This record gives sequence, C-alpha cells and structure tokens, in this order.
Amino acid sequence: MSAERIDGKAFAARLRERVGALAAEFETQAGRKAGLAVVLVGEDPASDVYVRSKNKATLAANMESFEHRLPADTSEADLLALVERLNADEAVDGILVQLPLPGHLDEQAIIEAIAPDKDVDGFHVINAGKLSVGRSGFVPCTPLGCMMLLADRLGDLSGLEAVVIGRSNIVGKPMAQLLLDANATVTIAHSRTKNLPDVVRRADIVVAAVGRPEMVRADWLKDGATVIDVGINRLAPETGADKGRLVGDVAFEEASARAGAITPVPGGVGPMTIAVLLRNTLVAAHRNAGLEVPEGL
Ligand code: GUN
Repeated sequence: MSAERIDGKAFAARLRERVGALAAEFETQAGRKAGLAVVLVGEDPASDVYVRSKNKATLAANMESFEHRLPADTSEADLLALVERLNADEAVDGILVQLPLPGHLDEQAIIEAIAPDKDVDGFHVINAGKLSVGRSGFVPCTPLGCMMLLADRLGDLSGLEAVVIGRSNIVGKPMAQLLLDANATVTIAHSRTKNLPDVVRRADIVVAAVGRPEMVRADWLKDGATVIDVGINRLAPETGADKGRLVGDVAFEEASARAGAITPVPGGVGPMTIAVLLRNTLVAAHRNAGLEVPEGL
C-alpha cells in the first residue's frame, strides 16, 4: 500500500487565497486594512527567513504588515515598551514576537505582555486557558493547521485513537486539546514514554512534534494510519550524501508504505503555519472592529 500524500502546500495556498479575498472585504467594511505586527529581536538566520515570508504573505493577503527589527542586545524594558505601543495601536490587529528570543529576555514575560485579543500566536496564558476550557480565543497556528489537514482528510475524528508525540506549549499540548475537542481518544507521548513504538502502533492518527530526524519508523505505525509530521530537521553535514536535506520526525519513505496518508517534509505542515497566522489575524481584525467573523474563516 502506498500512502496518500497530504498536500499542505496546496491546502495552505487555498487558505491564503480565501483569507486574501475576505481581507479585501474587511477593508471595505472597516475602512482600513487588517494589520499584523511582527517583532524580531536579533539576527537568527532561520527567524529572519520566517519573518520575511510572513511579511510577504501578509501583504499578498491584502493586509498591512508592520515589521519591527530590534538589535540582539535590546533590553526587556525596551521590548516591553514596543509591545505596549503595539497593544495600543488601532492599526495593529495581531502581534507576533518571533521566538526564540535572545537568552537575556524572559520569553514568557514578553508573551504575557501582548494583549490577549492581539495574540494571534495563541501563546498567551489567557488563550491557552481558553483552549483548555473550550472557549473561543486564539489557537496556536501550527496545531490548528494540523487539525485543518486532519479534518479535510478524515472528516469526523470521533472515537479515533490519536497519539501526539511531543508536549510543547506551542504544538503538543494545544494539538492534544484540539483532538480532544474533536472527540478523539488522545495520548500525549514524550521522551520519557515507555515502549513508544507500541504506544504509537495504537494510533489511527499520529502527530509527530519532537524535533528528532526520522525517529518514527514504519513498523511503529498501524496499517492505514494518518500521519502528520510537524518536524523540520536539517540533517547535519556529517550525514554524507544527505547533508543539509530537510527531513521530518517521521521516516517518510518507509512510513509511506504503511500509512494511509502522510504529510511530506517540506510541503506538509510547514506552509500551513503562515496561512493560519493570516487567518488568525483576520479573525482578530473582525473582533477588534466589532464585525462578525465570516463563515468558513
Ligand atoms: N518560531 C518558530 N515558530 C514560531 C511561531 O509559530 N510563532 C513565533 N512567535 N515564533 C516562532
């Protein structure tokens, strides 16, 4: 059997298109564009690439992009002052502070300073709490994107066994909450889980978010499982012919012989994150402008 390849890139392109069309309608209704502010502290090359693509995608979706690049030695007080200014700025609907921050800055303190109704990353404790009790706030972009792909592939997830590998606040925990809300039976596995392959073999849905290249092998999977690979790992130069290649947390080639459907890396979950960020920003804009959030956003 060969798994269906879940084309996150194409799904994300359709979502960005839909958001762009609805953002144009928002501009007509509200008399202004929806706006996203992105803050980057320091010069991490990977973060620089992310911020550039967020900026480009925001403009392409008929929204305003406010990019703030600060030096690596920016003080916490200065960063907090910028967040406060953005909180108060009516042209800004969403605020994203690119992580990781340089070591001298307290990430949690910065995230908590963002107004929860502009926290389009869904990282603020208020939004994490809302997700936990089933109230509508903002849901982190990557897990929400994974849910969209799962719903598209499987429809109703009721009663399915889901195993999430990884327990981060950004992916693993919110992913588990979303699956639970969709009535799946959810297990969160992590680095201390005993007999991980046996746990994963129970799953109809596997979400791998551990950051360990090709850790999940074909013989860990139940026949026909749906596999969502959140990992983006660049292989080190010493790995010979594979050097520099991007791989996920799942051994894609062999897993494809066993899974029912699987996301590739790249081109699976990755492109969904920015598309969902734009979606969350447009939702924030409608709420901030007192407009009804459009159906299907
Ligand atoms: N760094 C890597 N991914 C993300 C993300 O989704 N949001 C933020 N703020 N930083 C990130």
